[in-house]
Parts: sequence; C-alpha cells; structure tokens
Amino acid sequence: MVASGTFGYAEEFKDFINLKQLGAIVTKTITLKPRQGNPAPRTCETAAGMLNSIGLENPGIEKFIEGKLPVLKKIGVPIIISIASENDPEEFVALAKRLDKIKEVAGIELNISCPNIRSHSSLLMVHNAKLISQDADSTYGLVSAVRKVTQKILITKLSPNVTDITEIALAAESAASDAVSLINTVNAMSIDIEERAPKIASITGGLSGPAIRPIAVRMVWEVYQKIKIPIIGMGGIIDTPSALEFFLAGASAVAVGTANFVNPRITIEIIKGIEKYLKENKINDIKTLIGGLKI
Ligand SMILES: Cc1cc2nc3c(=O)[nH]c(=O)nc-3n(C[C@H](O)[C@H](O)[C@H](O)COP(=O)(O)O)c2cc1C
Repeated sequence: MVASGTFGYAEEFKDFINLKQLGAIVTKTITLKPRQGNPAPRTCETAAGMLNSIGLENPGIEKFIEGKLPVLKKIGVPIIISIASENDPEEFVALAKRLDKIKEVAGIELNISCPNIRSHSSLLMVHNAKLISQDADSTYGLVSAVRKVTQKILITKLSPNVTDITEIALAAESAASDAVSLINTVNAMSIDIEERAPKIASITGGLSGPAIRPIAVRMVWEVYQKIKIPIIGMGGIIDTPSALEFFLAGASAVAVGTANFVNPRITIEIIKGIEKYLKENKINDIKTLIGGLKI
C-alpha cells in the first residue's frame, strides 16, 4: 500500500507506475472543510529521512469527492480514504457518514495522530492538550463513534509519540476498528546553524523515512503481541528487505511513504521483490511470514 500524504491522490503517480498493481491506495488526509496547511518551509531533509509539517493541506471532503474521487474510482484497487479533524471529533463522524454512502470507497483510515495541527485561535490550548492518539480513552471514544456510522473497513492510524503504543492499539481494537496502521511520523526538529533558525516554519514537525524504521518495527512487534486485528506496518520502508522486516514483526500488510519521493516506482519494485523473495525461499503463502520472527 502507499502511506497517506506521500502519494497525493494517486493521479500524480500514474505516469510512473501501473497503479493497478498496488495492493491499496491510501489518500492524503482530508478534512470536512478545505485547509491551507502550515506556512512554508514545510519540509527539510535530514540525515536519513525527512521532516515535514504540511498541516493537512487539502481541498475538503466535497471538493475531494467532486474532483479527486472520480479518478481514484477508476483505478480498480481498493481506495482507503484518510480522514481527520483539526480539533472536533464530531467531524470524523460527519466525514465517515459521508464516505459510507460511496460504494467505491473500500475503507476509512482515521488519522488521529497528525502531530502538525495548530489551532490559530487557541495555540496554547492545543499545544498542551493531549492528541487523541496519545490517549486510550479518547481513541476508544472516537473509534466507537465512527464505527457506529460506517460499515466500511475501519483502520485506526497510530502515533509513535506515546509511552506505550499497545494501550492505544488495544483501545482501537476494543472499539471495533478492523485494523490498525502504524506508525505515523515521529516528533522531531532540525536547526539551520548559519541562520540559527529552525529549518521548517512550524519549528517542530514529523520525521519519516529510514531513520524511524527501527522504531516502527519495534512498535509493530509490540502491538502484534497484544492485538488480534491486522496491522498495516509502515515507517522507513525503502526496499524489499525493509518491507519484509515488518511482516516478520507482525504486519499483515505494509505501506510505503517517504520512499515514494525518492523513487516514484519504489512500490512496484518492492512488490516484485517480495514475490522474488517468496519464490526463492519456496514460501507459498506470505501469511507464514507474518509475525514469523524467531527469538
Ligand atoms: C510529506 C508527508 C505528508 C504526510 N501526510 C500524512 C497525512 O496526510 N496523513 C497521515 O495519516 N499521514 C501522513 N504522513 C505520514 C505517512 O503516511 C507515514 O505514516 C510516515 O511518513 C511513516 O512512513 P515513511 O517513513 O514510509 O514515510 C505524511 C508523511 C509525509 C512524509
């Protein structure tokens, strides 16, 4: 799969790969109303990844349904729509209700873990408040509320910016989430020493790419031991071996994010690489790899 926010609305990649070969497409997170996102610069490179603070720039649900969804519908692979709200859980419910009516939407991913949202009117309050993704009870409440209004596959996306990710995964599972995806970006910061200024305008942002892979693999492994619903693993997957690490740690599927910016064909190369690995190792079913870590 492709990770939310790193593959646009898929159309952007159609000249590079045959989109039909993907397992699923997860769209950039959409919100109820359009959002302009955070001020620039919003991204910078780091030693082994990138720092971003896009701030959920998106056209809003109605423009998305009108302008982006028709193209996505035609691709012929499961389309998973990532949704979020700046600060109102009710908006998740409204978004899910709207999407539930659309036949071609295969699933909904709840982005409860975006670390970049800043409310201009209440900057301090939002700064100090726990994000939903950092609180098991809030996660349970939100997932249950959304579950009530949709029959679609429901995926809860978890943040690594917590003390114990398994508590949040368990909350999502008890609220009847069909799967969890992890991890979102890691809170981080980078400084330009000449300017003595932060490299991105929002000062802190989310780190992604190979730098976070060992954190992501560890978290998938921890969550795998606690929950029964499937895990979609992501964080720093750049090639076949790094994707396979996630299956062995317990993921049933994997998603590629930042690597798409380096090589827009990487997803298909990894899919082919996994097929080759399975053939070479005489493995008939990838399911035998899931959680197959030997201790
Ligand atoms: C530029 C950029 C934008 C992102 N936007 C979103 C987003 O809109 N919603 C979301 O749930 N995750 C978003 N993410 C997080 C990714 O989906 C993914 O969880 C994370 O980057 C880890 O995977 P990776 O290391 O393969 O990139 C974004 C990541 C990047 C780099």
